[in-house]
Amino acid sequence: MSDESRPSPTEARTAAVIPAAGRGVRLGPGAPKALRALGGTPMLIHAVRAMAASRAVSLVVVVAPPDGAAEVKSLLDAHALPERTDFLVVTGGDSRQESVRLGLDALPPDYDIVLVHDAARPLVPVDTVDAVIEAVRDGAPAVVPALPLADTVKEVEPAPVAGDPEPVVATPVRARLRAVQTPQGFDRATLVRAHEEVTEDVTDDASMVERLGNTVLLVPGHEEAFKVTRPLDLVLAEAVLARRRLNDGF
Ligand code: CTP
Ligand code: MG
Repeated sequence: MSDESRPSPTEARTAAVIPAAGRGVRLGPGAPKALRALGGTPMLIHAVRAMAASRAVSLVVVVAPPDGAAEVKSLLDAHALPERTDFLVVTGGDSRQESVRLGLDALPPDYDIVLVHDAARPLVPVDTVDAVIEAVRDGAPAVVPALPLADTVKEVEPAPVAGDPEPVVATPVRARLRAVQTPQGFDRATLVRAHEEVTEDVTDDASMVERLGNTVLLVPGHEEAFKVTRPLDLVLAEAVLARRRLNDGF
C-alpha cells in the first residue's frame, strides 16, 4: 500500500456490504441475477469494482446466493480487483434485509462507516460512492443517493388480483418525491442498531434508520446507478457499458 492511499489514523475506515443473494425472479429464468453476465463479466463483479473504485473503501463483503459462496469466491479470485481492497464472502438469507444483516455480522471491528450496495446496481459511478461516504464522514448517520421522479406516482388500494383495476387513494406532489438508489452509507453503529430493533419488512436500509428516529440525508444520485430489475434494464446496462468503452477508447 502506498503512503498516498493509506488513510490517516483519524480517518474512519469504510467497508461496503453487497447483498447479492437474490434470485432475480423479475429478470426471468436463469442463474441468480448477480451472477449473470453484463458485457461478458458477472454483474456482481461490476458492483464490487464500483465499490472498490473508491479509495476510501478498504473492505468489500459480498453476500452470496445460497449455495453460491464458493462460486463467488472463485469469481473474485479470477477478476483483477485493486490491491488495497480486501474481500469477504458470506451466504445470504431469505430477504434482502436478512442478507444485509448477515453481511453486517461478518464485519471486522475496525470499520466505522458502512455502505450497503445492491449487486443489482452494477454501474454506479465512483463519484456517487464518494459523495455518499463524504456526507457520512461529515456527520450524517445515514446518507442515500436519490433522483427526482420522471413519472407521477399514485397511491392505490391494491387489487387482490394482480392486473385488476385499482382505485386511486392519493397523488403525492411529485416535486417532493425522490427515487432512492444505493450505495446507502451509514454510521456503522446506527445501522447495526437499526437491524437489531426494526423488525418490519422494509425495502431499503435507510428506512430502518428513519424508524429509529434518526435523520436520513439525501445526496444527488446518478442515472447510471439504476437497478437491473427487468429484462429491459439489461439492454440499458449493456448500452451504458458500450458507451463507456467507446469513450475510454478516445
Ligand atoms: N438480495 C439479497 N438477498 C435476498 C434478496 C435480495 O441479497 N434474499 C439482493 C439482490 O441480490 C439484489 C438486491 O438485494 O442485489 C436488490 O434486490 P432485487 O433487485 O429485488 O433483487 P432480487 O431479489 O434478486 O430480484 P427479484 O426481486 O426480481 O427476485
Ligand atoms: Mg427482490
